[in-house]
Amino acid sequence: NKIVLAYSGGLDTSIILKWLKETYDAEIIAFTADIGQADELDGLEEKALATGASKVYIDDLRAEFAEDFIYPMFQAGALYEGQYLLGTSIARPLIAKRMVEIARAEGAMAIAHGATGKGNDQVRFELNAAALAPEIKVIAPWRLETFRDQFPGRAEMIEYAEKHGITVTASAAKPYSTDRNLLHISYESGVLEDPNFDASAESNKDMFLLSVSPEDAPDQPEMLDLEFENGNCVALNGEKLTPLAAMEKLNELGGKHGIGRVDMVENRFVGMKSRGVYETPGGTILFTAHRKLESLTMDREVMSLRDSLITRYSNLVYNGFWFAPERLALQALVTESQKNVTGTVRVKLYKGNIIAAGLSSPYSLYNPEIATMEADPTNAYDQGDAAGFIQLNALRLRVGAGVRQAAQAD
Ligand code: ARG
Ligand code: SIN
Repeated sequence: NKIVLAYSGGLDTSIILKWLKETYDAEIIAFTADIGQADELDGLEEKALATGASKVYIDDLRAEFAEDFIYPMFQAGALYEGQYLLGTSIARPLIAKRMVEIARAEGAMAIAHGATGKGNDQVRFELNAAALAPEIKVIAPWRLETFRDQFPGRAEMIEYAEKHGITVTASAAKPYSTDRNLLHISYESGVLEDPNFDASAESNKDMFLLSVSPEDAPDQPEMLDLEFENGNCVALNGEKLTPLAAMEKLNELGGKHGIGRVDMVENRFVGMKSRGVYETPGGTILFTAHRKLESLTMDREVMSLRDSLITRYSNLVYNGFWFAPERLALQALVTESQKNVTGTVRVKLYKGNIIAAGLSSPYSLYNPEIATMEADPTNAYDQGDAAGFIQLNALRLRVGAGVRQAAQAD
């Protein structure tokens, strides 16, 4: 009788580990995906074992996360509700994928997670797991009344932890909840629940871990060259880098220059609004630079079509449909759209800003000889043709306006 638990070492999943073991009389296999939580992983294995896990998996999935999840999503230009770069959303399908692999290898009867019954994460874990392993059962303690009755608040959880020798770390006392990976850190709940609470205030400075505030960023701007191949960043300042190494370097640079903080109210899939604060330093540079290169290299109608699908694509990632057939179909279109998104983008990083400082590409569609205000040496464009172009486009506007005028005159 085995259960694979998505374990973070925090108060919630520690208590859930112990509770599952007692309630189901099962062996608990703790699984943590290393997707870039950095020092949050320190001492995790010992802690899981001390809390009662029979086996612990801490798998370094950072390279796969960058290459197969973050990069394809950035090729698509995904952005949720115009602001959120989907840092938590895109990690969930990878965690679900590895979790069901472990469950199968271990012959476990179920997988379990510590996401609440009010959030997006439960939906993402479970939809992605369903798409990959329809036979696997899920246990979500926060959705069970017995569990919620036993732990109505933090106090009861801390008491239970102390009774069972679970170390309660300082993070349990933080006045908000966080989720960290290679792409971002999110901050939610607690003091942030008041949308009028100013998270950017000097007094809240210590919350942020990946970036300085723009006002504390260096007075000297820093130039950065990003080289792309088929919409993927392959080199920084002339140095070839894997997706993982590129994300790490971009995070460092973005963080140093106060780039990528977002404070928003978003719509959760389950229907409620929620306030989130995000730090996405590297992702923000990547997103902006990629879009700039597309402006030089992408055909107008391909861009228009792809842009019309960004909302759809972003909603699929946000709502947990990464492994759904419609996301895969959209990804095929995205791949095709990125064929010529190759070239170099130069940006200037300065106090929270990413300033365009040069574009070049062997696939540039921009032709200054055609666009010039001076005499056009190519004769590709005859200004006289524009008269007919405008006439035909104006036809239905004229007819419509004429009809309205006549009706008003009656
Ligand atoms: N609101 C963001 C999202 O839904 C962040 C969620 C953070 N999750 C967490 N378990 N702390 O993607
Ligand atoms: C949770 O409810 O577990 C975290 C927030 C979310 O999933 O949206």
